[in-house]
Amino acid sequence: MGTIKIAPSVLSADMANLKGDLDKIAGADYVHFDVMDGHFTGNLTFGVDILKAVKRSTDVPVDAHLMVSNPDETVDWYADAGADMITVHYEASTHLHRTLTHLQQRGVKAGVVLNPATSVCVLESIIEVVDIVLLMSVNPGFGGQSFIPGTIAKLHELKAMCERHGVSPLIEVDGGISSKNIAEVVKAGADVLVAGSAVFKSEDPAAEVALLQKLGNEAAQEA
Ligand code: DX5
Ligand code: ZN
Repeated sequence: MGTIKIAPSVLSADMANLKGDLDKIAGADYVHFDVMDGHFTGNLTFGVDILKAVKRSTDVPVDAHLMVSNPDETVDWYADAGADMITVHYEASTHLHRTLTHLQQRGVKAGVVLNPATSVCVLESIIEVVDIVLLMSVNPGFGGQSFIPGTIAKLHELKAMCERHGVSPLIEVDGGISSKNIAEVVKAGADVLVAGSAVFKSEDPAAEVALLQKLGNEAAQEA
């Protein structure tokens, strides 16, 4: 097992054949579960019942990415449904510190997500508390968008901040990741790479996960 983790996003899976698609990614490190509420994002996806169905269908840990307004009020729904890791948006959270520490007390890995327009400097007062920082490399709402190049500079800033504070949260990047750019993103400091369309729209999702793991780990060794 390498250090780089691949998290296929079920946003791009076939909802009519979810169990079959989850079986194809049994070799992945996390299942990335994109919750959109039609308010924080203009799109609406799935909630706790589907999360429970995912938990019944796979042993791969679930990484729930909550693109919802007021996550402070609803994180327990996802913890109760079995999410192993929960990330909430900085832009949507009023009581971020309380929400993250609450999840940790429940035994759930807790993280904060930043939209492309949000500077990493907003993490200065919370970085020592978080288990995960997720940098969005697309604007949240849809799969299949192009990677925003400015994410690379944000990764460097985030790594420098972590070093200053003497902490090493998992660093996750979400949006537009494929075999073409994974090496660059890993070299800039990412540990967990979300890939939706690159995995589920490929001919062979299992092989695509293995390829991303291989390319990611090779890049980590070169970094
Ligand atoms: C976007 C979601 C992503 C999305 C990534 O709002 O948070 O997780 O599924 O999809 P790709 O990999 O296709 O950009
Ligand atoms: Zn996501």
